[in-house]
Amino acid sequence: MRAVTVVPLQSSSVDLTDLPEPPESDGPVLVRTHGVGVCGTDLEIIGGDYGWAPPGETRLAIGHESIGEVVEAPDGCGLAAGDMVVAIVRRPDPVPCPNCAIGEWDMCRNGRYTEWGIKEHHGYARERYRITPDFVVKVDSSLGDLGVLLEPTTVVAKAWDHIERIGRRAEWKPTTVLVTGAGPIGLLAALLARQRDLEVHVVDQVTDGLKPELVEALGATYHHGPISGMGIEPDVAIECTGVGQLIFDVMEAAGANGIVCLTGVSSGGRDIPVDAGTLNRRLVLENDVVFGSVNANRRHYEAGAEALAGADKDWLARLVTRRVPLASWRDAYERQPGDVKVMLDFTA
Ligand code: BGC
Repeated sequence: MRAVTVVPLQSSSVDLTDLPEPPESDGPVLVRTHGVGVCGTDLEIIGGDYGWAPPGETRLAIGHESIGEVVEAPDGCGLAAGDMVVAIVRRPDPVPCPNCAIGEWDMCRNGRYTEWGIKEHHGYARERYRITPDFVVKVDSSLGDLGVLLEPTTVVAKAWDHIERIGRRAEWKPTTVLVTGAGPIGLLAALLARQRDLEVHVVDQVTDGLKPELVEALGATYHHGPISGMGIEPDVAIECTGVGQLIFDVMEAAGANGIVCLTGVSSGGRDIPVDAGTLNRRLVLENDVVFGSVNANRRHYEAGAEALAGADKDWLARLVTRRVPLASWRDAYERQPGDVKVMLDFTA
C-alpha cells in the first residue's frame, strides 16, 4: 500500500513509497485512512530534525493527525464498519512509568513512549492501518473528514484540563483569556475558551484575511501588534507560537493568579534579553503559574471529540484551507500563504 515515509533525521528523504499491509499484531481493528492533517511536527520530521523509525526499519510512515473509516472490528468492541475514527498518537512506555500505568501516557516520566507517525511506529499517512480498539476514538458522524481536526483539538483539550486543575488551587473565576497565534492550535484553543463562555482575545501577526474572520466568528476579539498594547490582564494565557519574545510578553501580561500554558515547540538557537529578576518578582508576587503541555491521553481525545461535536461545522470546515489529493502529496507539505490546516486526502 502507499504511504508517505521518511528516513528519520535525513532531510529530502520524504517520498510516497510502498509499505507492507499492516500486521495483525498491530490490532484487530482495520481502518482505511481518509486523510491526515499536516502540522509543524511533520515538517520538522521531513526537514530531518525529528523522528525515529520503527526498530529494525529505516523508513517511518509519518502522519499523526488522522481521520479514517473502520473496515473491520471485532464484535462487541464498540466499533463497527463505517464508523469514522481518529487514532491516538502516543502509546505507553513498556516499563510502565507511574503515569503510563494509569493511561496518562501524555505525562510519561521516562521518555520511552512511542508515537505513531513520529517515534518508533508507522503513522497514519498510509492507506490502511490496524489498531487496538482502546487507541481509536469515534467521532460524531456529522463531522465526516473534519474529524481530522481532533488530534490538534486534543492538544488544547489537555491544556484546558490542566489549566482548570491548576485553577482549583484557590477560588478561581476566570473571565479573560489570551491566545497567542491564530494557527490551528490557537484557533482551537480559542474555540474551547468560547465554549466555556470566556472573553477571548487572540493575537497574531496577520492584519486581515481568514484568521481574523475565524476569530471574530467565534465571538472573540482579534489583535495584531504588541501584547502590551492590548489593555488586558488575562486570567489564562495559551501560548501557541513558540516564539521566544512572545513567551515572555505573555508571562508579563498575565493578571494576578494568572495561568500561562505553553504549547508551542520552539527551535532553539536565538538569544533574547530578559530581565529575569523583574519577571520572577512578578510571577512570585502574583502567584502566577507557567507550565508546558504536550500530547494528550484518551480522556482528552474524548473531550476533544465532544468539543468538535458541539462546534459550528461551517466554522470547522473553514479551518481546513486545503485538501490535497494523494496524487499531489508533495504539495501538502509545502507551506502556502493563507494555510490554516492542510489535509492530505487519501480518498481523492
Ligand atoms: C503531537 C503530539 C506529540 C508531539 C511531540 C505534536 O505535534 O501533536 O502528539 O506528542 O508532537 O512528538
